[in-house]
Formats: sequence, structure tokens, C-alpha cells
Amino acid sequence: MDDIDSLTKFLKKSEVWFKYEILDLLRAKTLQALHIDFAELRKMTTEELLKIPYEDNGEISEKFPKFAAFIKECNEMSIMNTPPAALPERAIPSELFHKVKEKKAYELSQIMPLILTELEKAKVETVIDIGCGVGNMLRILNHFGYYTIGIESDHLYAELARNNNPKSDIIETHLDNDNIFDLLVNLQHNRDTPTAIISLHGCGDLQSTILTLFTSVDRVDFPVLVTVGCCYNKRNSAEILSEAVAKSLNDNELHISPSAMRLAGDRGLQFWKDQPKETLEFHANCMFKRAMIHLCFSDRKNYRNYRGRIGDLPDDPALFAQTMLLDYEGQHNGRLTSSQQHDLTQKVQAYQPCKPWIQRLAIMQAALQGPLESLLQLDAYHYLLENGRPTARLVPVFDATRSPRNMAIVYNAAD
Ligand SMILES: C[S@@+](CC[C@H](N)C(=O)[O-])C[C@H]1O[C@@H](n2cnc3c(N)ncnc32)[C@H](O)[C@@H]1O
Repeated sequence: MDDIDSLTKFLKKSEVWFKYEILDLLRAKTLQALHIDFAELRKMTTEELLKIPYEDNGEISEKFPKFAAFIKECNEMSIMNTPPAALPERAIPSELFHKVKEKKAYELSQIMPLILTELEKAKVETVIDIGCGVGNMLRILNHFGYYTIGIESDHLYAELARNNNPKSDIIETHLDNDNIFDLLVNLQHNRDTPTAIISLHGCGDLQSTILTLFTSVDRVDFPVLVTVGCCYNKRNSAEILSEAVAKSLNDNELHISPSAMRLAGDRGLQFWKDQPKETLEFHANCMFKRAMIHLCFSDRKNYRNYRGRIGDLPDDPALFAQTMLLDYEGQHNGRLTSSQQHDLTQKVQAYQPCKPWIQRLAIMQAALQGPLESLLQLDAYHYLLENGRPTARLVPVFDATRSPRNMAIVYNAAD
């Protein structure tokens, strides 16, 4: 799926579902869209609602054709539905996955064979892992005889990466567009051997920073790049990198906001389809509670995050308000006046009727994750094509139900 224009048009049509911050989730526009554009959503029982995206049993699609068509279109627009590519087979000794969590072990067992093959193709000897975390990829690469350098901004992770990989160089630093070029060029010159850049689930700005380095093609040349992005909502700006995507967004008057980025970092329908109904209900309830916190505390900028688990907050409006107050007062060493307390309780109660909508909203948002994620992936991919890397590829490396940021961007000078 590489039709940026139809993807953008579809997202424009659906923009009401991601245009607003969480604060606005319950506000008029979004609810209005539910009422007018998706009147049939209101008629569905929760049972039916949960069936549509997950079981195409015809009967329900016939009863609610508009919603079913929306879900179908979302799926068609999503590159995340693509099953993992036929990746190279590679035996990685099981002791290298010792103490690695199940999800990470799955990701490593999928992506490492791809990386090893790309390194061999380009006859690379040194690998730089950007945002290396605790150094799981370094360990596997060291085993296969590569010289490895890990770059990590988090002190604790950098220490762990060092302890786990005595043979690797671990550099503790926060990379950004201003320092990445000098740092990586120096590293490459010091080694004087072909050097690859890899990064698995580099969050926020990290992937765009890495891609920006690759546009400096005349001054620096790394023969291999394999990167998978993550947490797009943590980007400093919702900046689009490629001309192709920027033009299409502009032509269709679609502004990709940070809240859209947040959606693209969510788990998507692909994930939810395998969850029991209770899990989705729990998630919807959490969304409601989070929206309540933002609404009720919108004027108290430094209180946006409840310290405990959102899901553990009581459902009862009065108890909910009371718990929030105690947490707020605990964090701010002060008490709200009784009229402020009263206001809060009233607000929480006033929004209770919105609660049944949240589940619908959660499904609409989950459905849109695929198309939004696709737009961001195509953006990164086209950016490389437009900037002197015509053989760049998008490779589906993970099953999106197991690891939703599942597309690797791969470039190899030997292709
Ligand atoms: C989602 S984790 C992935 C860790 C590891 N690659 C893995 O797959 O297990 C992203 C890592 O990138 C690091 N990171 C994020 N932004 C960074 C930056 N600008 N410079 C260096 N490290 C960064 C984070 O501290 C975190 O350890």
C-alpha cells in the first residue's frame, strides 16, 4: 500500500477522531460526529460493537454497514496488516535471550536474522546501535563477531548495557540533530571499517534524527541502516519529513497533530482483536478516567498525571473525585477549598453520561491507528527515497498483534 494520496484523503475524512487532545475527547465535536456520521454506533449493543471489528460474520456488518465499511477501509489503509516478510532463517543460540522478556525475545528473533543478512551483504564490520537500551542487540551482534557501539541516553540502561556487553563501547549521550552528525562521523573515522547503523524502537525524535543523518549523504556514508520507530507522540514536533507526504497533507488540508501521533503509538485493532472483551472494556474505562482527570484539572497544569494506576481509580463518581483530590492535595501539599471540591465532584458526575460513548470512541481510534502509522512509515521511507537512498525498503518484521510498531526501514548500499 503506497498510495499516499488516498491514505491522506481517508485520514482527512476521519480526522475528527484524532484531531483533538484527550482533553477534548468528550467534547461536542467528537460526540457530534458519533451521533451524525455514525448514528448506527449508538444503536449497537456493546456485544455487537465488539464483534464488528473482530468477527466479520456478515450478519452484523449487514445491520451496521457504515461502521463495518469504516473498519474495512481502516484495515485496507493499514500497512500494519501485512504479515511479517519471509525473513532469513538464522539460528541464534537460546542463551543470548536469557532474562529477555517474551515480547523483546520475539522481536529479536525476528529482526536479528534480517540485520545479520544486511550486514553480511555490505561486508560491514562495525555496528552502531542507536538507543541500545540494555544492549540486547549488541549481545547478539558480539556473538556473531561484530565490533559494536551502543548509544544510549538513559544512565541506568547505559550501565546495564555496559555490564551486559563488556566487549561493546557504550556511549551515554542524548542524540539530537545538532550532535548526531559529528558524533557518528568521528566514530566511523576512528574505526575506518564499514559501519552500519541500527535502531530498534527508537522513540520520539530518535528515528527522524537518524534519518536526518542519512540525508547528509555527500558528507558521510554508512552502508547499512535498519531502523524501527516508536512512541511518535514523544516527537518534539509533528513535523513531516518527506516532500511526498507533506504535499499530500497540504493538498488535502490535513494537519497531523501531536494527538494523531499519539494514536499512531497505540496498539491498534490488530492487538485488540485478540483480547477478551473485558480487556477492551477496561481500556475504555481507563480512557474515560484519564479524560476526566484532564477535564477536571485542565486549569492546574502541573497536575495531569495521576500517580497510581488509572484503572484502579474507583468507578463511582464521588469516590473517583475524592481519590483525585487526595492525590492532588498529596502532590501539592495543600487542600482545595470546599467549593473547589464540590465543583470537581459535580464535574465528574456531569460527564458520567458520556461514559457509554467511550468504548465506541476507543474502537474508532484503535481502528485509525493502522492508517496513521502507515502514513508515518511511508513518510520515513519516502524521505530516504527523496534524499539519495533509492533502494530503501519498508520491511514488515513483526506480527502487529505482537509488536505493533512492526515496520523496519532498511537501506543497504549493496542493493
Ligand atoms: C523503546 S527503547 C528501545 C531499546 C532497545 N533498542 C530495545 O529494543 O530493547 C528506546 C531507547 O532509546 C533511548 N533513547 C531515546 N531517545 C534517545 C536519544 N535522543 N539519544 C539516545 N538514546 C535515546 C531510550 O533511553 C531507550 O532506551
